[in-house]
Amino acid sequence: MKIGIGNDHVAVDFKYKVKDYLEELGHEVVDFGTDSEERTDYPKYGKNVAESIVKGEVDKGILICGTGVGISLSANKVKGIRAVVCSEPYTAKLSRQHNNTNILAFGSRVIGIDLAKMIVNEWVSTEFEGGRHQNRINMIDDIETEYLC
Ligand code: RB5
Repeated sequence: MKIGIGNDHVAVDFKYKVKDYLEELGHEVVDFGTDSEERTDYPKYGKNVAESIVKGEVDKGILICGTGVGISLSANKVKGIRAVVCSEPYTAKLSRQHNNTNILAFGSRVIGIDLAKMIVNEWVSTEFEGGRHQNRINMIDDIETEYLC
């Protein structure tokens, strides 16, 4: 799978470790930065990774900031993005099976790298189940369309 990865300044080293792990699993990683620990703004990276998914440049995305919250909220503003913040593998797995999430986010200040690897492994290896879950995603899309300016 081709995976876009993005992070803010508090998650640079964490991002490198996640990137190495994804490559060990055989995935191609496109890095949207930042590679600097100079203070920056997480919405830029959330938006850039999200846009690359909806444009079809990458298949899915992984976003990391201090908590995973700000960067995932930013990505979720892009039409067609379903980003989930996870601190454990169960939600990561179910978010693929039931919600067809296309972005996984977590916080470098919240979890350690070993737990992050477990979460990533579950998320990248789980397929969407479709069926009744697709109907619910269609309902989410309808809300998005209703509130588009
Ligand atoms: C940066 O200090 C911090 O606010 C950011 O990494 C993230 O946790 C926001 O949700």
